[in-house]
Amino acid sequence: MADENTPAITRRHLLQAVGATSSAGVMFAAMGALGLAPTAGAQPRNEEWEPPRKGDFSLTGRTAKKVVVVGGGPAGLASAYELQKAGYTVTVLEARHRVGGRTLTMRPGDAETDLDGNRQVARFADGIYMNAGAARIAQWMVTMDYMRELGVPYEVFTNANADAYLYNEKSGATPGNPVRYRTAKADVFGYTSELLTMATDQGALDGRLSEADKENLRAFLRSWGSLTDGKYQGGSNRGYSVYPSAWNEHGTPLPGPGSVSEVLASKVGQYFPFEINWEQSMLMFQPKGGMDTISQYLAKAVGTQNVLLKSVVSSVQNTTDGVRVTYTAANGKERQIEADFAVVSAPAALMRRWDTNWGSETDAALGEFATRSPAGKIGLQYRSRWWEEDHKIYGGITETDMDLAHLWYPSYGYGERKGLIIGYYNTGANARAYGSLSHAGRLRRAVEQGVKIHGDKYRSELDTAFSISWDKVPHIEGAWAFPNTSSPRFKQLQQGSGQVYFAGDWMSEISAWQHGAFWSARYAVQALHTRVMTS
Ligand code: FAD
Ligand code: ALA
Repeated sequence: MADENTPAITRRHLLQAVGATSSAGVMFAAMGALGLAPTAGAQPRNEEWEPPRKGDFSLTGRTAKKVVVVGGGPAGLASAYELQKAGYTVTVLEARHRVGGRTLTMRPGDAETDLDGNRQVARFADGIYMNAGAARIAQWMVTMDYMRELGVPYEVFTNANADAYLYNEKSGATPGNPVRYRTAKADVFGYTSELLTMATDQGALDGRLSEADKENLRAFLRSWGSLTDGKYQGGSNRGYSVYPSAWNEHGTPLPGPGSVSEVLASKVGQYFPFEINWEQSMLMFQPKGGMDTISQYLAKAVGTQNVLLKSVVSSVQNTTDGVRVTYTAANGKERQIEADFAVVSAPAALMRRWDTNWGSETDAALGEFATRSPAGKIGLQYRSRWWEEDHKIYGGITETDMDLAHLWYPSYGYGERKGLIIGYYNTGANARAYGSLSHAGRLRRAVEQGVKIHGDKYRSELDTAFSISWDKVPHIEGAWAFPNTSSPRFKQLQQGSGQVYFAGDWMSEISAWQHGAFWSARYAVQALHTRVMTS
């Protein structure tokens, strides 16, 4: 007698055969006939994602449904896009005056008013923009796939640059001296290699390594740390104060290195893991002209007539056979939309303020996302690109131990006259500290700190600035929330509530990235579509 797995294996083979040539609808129909219909909460693995298709309805004699999507950020727009491609009728309700959510690009003339009523206008020159929220994309992220599918032009975003600075003013024997990444790396790798070689030679690793292992390790360390006779003595990898050119100009190597104690005390090595971080390593990419271009292309694909801006949702109710969504329209009037389903993608914490009947358990589950990190940025437009001309830095990030945290050089506009630096990008307490200041106060503080690294031009060449504190952005009120993805409540939200499905980067394994938002949309769409195809 076959064991209890045998029929399932046989059915799976059949389904594979159906799936090889058929659309999701035929697949679902076959699954239903075999009693294998997935539940509404069933989720595919990434590689099994198959967008719903128009044929899913025509081939199974079903009519497409109507879905209202709340939120016009990446998750909401991608949900609408995938559903509409399959023939669903979609309406997106977006509270703000523009799509994109936290993928906010400030271009010349763009204005934002924060929750305190402070209005700022980005008075940037033509062609200059500031990615006030999302700014970089790793190669493996699904965001790249959407850019390709939608035809969004993109270019390399320089996340790591050997000639950018590390600036620690609190640590080191000579605190307050900017050091280039390449120099810091040469010194840290060099001394680490010397020490490890010494430990190997003294037999400290004998219990762990064979003679052959030790020889291989020594060979690696000689090259990685530029060692001569087992010692680190600096060298050309540290960089030059005058680079070699022609005839008798051999270059002037940078003075140094400092002692091993000085290099260890400077703590610069602690910045290096960032470069191999799976989310942050090069190459990275950005859409040309600003990050929210992706959302704009999505909105265009959905049809701008189907994306209602300045439409603030205040109530989402499950009804006997669908949903009723109430919102205040752009003209200030209250409106309602009835639909078969809703996909809601506003920040979870804000949805708890709505009038809903999805029950206390769902509300409590949403409450797990109540804690949201603050984050802030300032864009500093300069009259000249002095960081390129004087410092020879073309893109990348300078890391600091000051409360500005990260300082970004632009990865676009090379060769143009003007350019825009992100003068601070910080989170947590640092973001709160800057966020509590007026725009003028933020600017003053950012410039005072930047001058320490770059000198007077940081102040004298400044043209205009725009700053953002994400916890003060209406309808967003925070940078991101990280889910406890193993929490039963997180799993509960994946099932949706009645006719309502949840999406948003907070509903993903990779919050604070569009990748997470897009996958949350795909999973919500798949769950919704599976439900439609199996009912
Ligand atoms: P959101 O973008 O927040 O969109 C939600 C939408 O819901 C908003 O438009 C909001 O206005 C709307 N809404 C809220 N309430 C209502 C209501 N009542 N009615 C109607 N609509 C409503 N991602 C990257 O990929 N790369 C990065 O480099 C990166 N850096 C980031 C840096 C910062 C400072 C921040 C803040 C974010 C960054 N992210 C980055 C994350 C990225 O922006 C988010 O993951 C993405 O925007 C999430 O999309 P979402 O649709 O889930 O949410
Ligand atoms: N994803 C965000 C960033 O890259 C946190 O800065």
